[in-house]
Amino acid sequence: MSSLQAPDIVDLYRRAGDAHYVGEPVTQLEHAWQCAQLARLAGASAELQLASWLHDLGHLLMGLPGTPTLRGQDDRHEAVAAPLLEAIWGPRVAEPVRLHVLAKRYLVGRHPSYRQRLSPDSLRSLKLQGGAMDIYEQQLFEQTAMHADAVKLRAWDDEGKRLGWFAATKEDALAELSELMERLGRR
Ligand SMILES: [Fe+2]
Ligand SMILES: [Fe+2]
Repeated sequence: MSSLQAPDIVDLYRRAGDAHYVGEPVTQLEHAWQCAQLARLAGASAELQLASWLHDLGHLLMGLPGTPTLRGQDDRHEAVAAPLLEAIWGPRVAEPVRLHVLAKRYLVGRHPSYRQRLSPDSLRSLKLQGGAMDIYEQQLFEQTAMHADAVKLRAWDDEGKRLGWFAATKEDALAELSELMERLGRR
């Protein structure tokens, strides 16, 4: 897995991207594509757009069956994907991915009403991931490099679960992903 390259990631989404995003009306690929569109529409950098595309890559890499959170299992998907992305594109892509789970814990602690925006699966995983951050954890998070990008990604993550919003075809979506990867090149 340590030698994962950009084309391998595109292939993984081609092979495994049709997996249903548990509890939501989208597949993993649709969710990834929607998050990247929301990032692009918000004027995010190419790096943050790619981070949005690939923030749940770890779910596909782990490939755990069914709904892990229902079994009380946290697949640590953010920690699985981040070093692989860091090796190819550096921290501006990897860090928002690594921090997107912490950003959820931060937002629930900082803005309690944010909890209402979370899907049932996100709420289950929140518990497994440590729950809302306390004030000290929030302050530490605010001092972490690229935490602001992670908070933005988190908002697109929560929004990117819409029924019926996708590229014309799956291959069109994958071509968009390849183009973005090529635009960034290697570090
Ligand atoms: Fe995630
Ligand atoms: Fe996600």
